[in-house]
This record gives sequence, structure tokens and C-alpha cells, in this order.
Amino acid sequence: MHTAQLGKTFVTEIGEVDASEPISEDAFLPVREAFHAGSILVLRNQKLAHEALIAFSRHFGDLLTHVLKQYLVPEYPEIMRLSNRDEHGRKVVFRNGAEAWHSDLSFTATPSLATILYGEAIPDEGGDTLFCDCYAAYDALDKDVRNRVDGLRAVHSFTRYQQSRFPSRPLTEEQQRQTLDVAHPVVRTHPETGRKSLFLGDDVISHVEGMERTQGKALMDDLLKHSTQDRFVYRHRWRAGDVVVYDNRCTLHRATDYDEEKYVRRLLRTSIKGDPTDVSPA
Ligand code: SIN
Repeated sequence: MHTAQLGKTFVTEIGEVDASEPISEDAFLPVREAFHAGSILVLRNQKLAHEALIAFSRHFGDLLTHVLKQYLVPEYPEIMRLSNRDEHGRKVVFRNGAEAWHSDLSFTATPSLATILYGEAIPDEGGDTLFCDCYAAYDALDKDVRNRVDGLRAVHSFTRYQQSRFPSRPLTEEQQRQTLDVAHPVVRTHPETGRKSLFLGDDVISHVEGMERTQGKALMDDLLKHSTQDRFVYRHRWRAGDVVVYDNRCTLHRATDYDEEKYVRRLLRTSIKGDPTDVSPA
């Protein structure tokens, strides 16, 4: 296996791995090590049937099915289809909220550990995905800010998120039941690496426990602005056949705009089940 840093230190491009072939646990070990050494893996020129995407994803853990069932591939509910065209090629207004900085499923008690995206159709321009390195963002904080945020807990609310981003599309009662508001540490310790990182989100945090609302919001906004500075951000310019694996415990991401009339963008996504966020490293 060949590895190379891609743009930023937390991103590793991996060559000579065919994700469509079965991979033994031994052969997968260097991939896992690269995943923990950085936080994002990029594999190029892959050709993955749905079964193969699922099989490759399972190396990172058990898969979950998203609460927004309308975006799941019916025969393969582990796969979410992110596209501005439906399966018949008809234009759809696709808005799953990916244009806000987020960590996948942060609004659940066990946010997703990692996500695997597979680029099937890619616009000629735009439609990139930006990732920020939340370890580096935490490490770069002044000591007094670190002391202030260590130990704080922020409440993540999918209901709030939907209301603020998509007021005309409220969650169903079942979706609300599955996504009750949940508090997570603002500074999260990675269970595998033991490193600390900021665990944030745009519009998903309703308040910081024990803080007056406007003060808490101002602090969260400042931390997000700090974390998403160019120096911490990697821009993934998609090519068809790319597989990108990102660790949701120590990165945030968001999609950028593209001309949805002109271009088709289609990513397939699988999500790995996560752990409670307060778990200390073994
Ligand atoms: C996502 O947030 O799940 C997808 C990001 C993207 O569409 O680039």
C-alpha cells in the first residue's frame, strides 16, 4: 500500500487498494493505522457496486441507517444517496443540510464514528467538500480559552437544526423521537488516539449547559470561526471514483455550492455507528 499526504497533514491519499475486492483484516491494518494517524483517507479510481461499498465500509465498524429514510437506497438502507437527481434522472431539490459545518449525526447520543463517501457523479465545477481538523483547532487555542471550554457541554438538537434551516420541512414525530436533544462535551477525547478535539456544529447547537444562551452562542460561534480558518481546512475537489473516509470524532465538514441545473452530483454515503462521546480512551 502506498500513502501520501494530500494538501493538509490530516489527509492521507492511499494508493494500491482496490476497495471493491475483499480485504483481509491483516491487509486492512495499514489502512486503519493511516486513518488514526490522520483523520481523512482518500482512495482514487474506485468502482464500487453497492455491496462492495457496504463491505468496504464495514472494515471501520457496524453500519447505521439514517433517520432521513427518504434518502436511503431502498434495497440497501445502509446507503444514503446524496444527489440532485432522483434514480430516474429527474431533477430534485436536494437539501440534506450538508452545506452547514457539521459532524454526522452529532444530534444523537452516539454520533457517527466515521463516514464513507463514494463519488459517482461529480460536477465539472463546485460541489467540493470542505473538512476541518478539529484536533489542530483545539491545539491552537490559547491556554485560557482551553481552560474555559474544557468541561463544557453543548446541547445538539436536530429539531432546532431543521427549524432554522428548513422551516417548511419539520421532522415527523418518529424522527423527533429518534433524535432527542443531547448534550456532548465541547472538547472531545478521541477513544483511539487519546487526543482532544473541538466537537462543534453550525446551527445544531441549541445552547451550552450552564451558560446564558447568547453568551453560549457567542462562544460556539467564535470556536467554529476559529476551527474553520483556512489553515485547518482541506478542500476535497471530487473526481468520479473517489472514496473519502472521514473520522467524525475529530473533523467537521460541509459541502460547497455548484450549479444544480447544469450538473449532476451524486455521492453514496455509509455511516459507521459511534460511541457515547464521553468515553475515555482505553
Ligand atoms: C455529507 O455531509 O454527508 C455530505 C457532504 C457532501 O455532500 O459533500
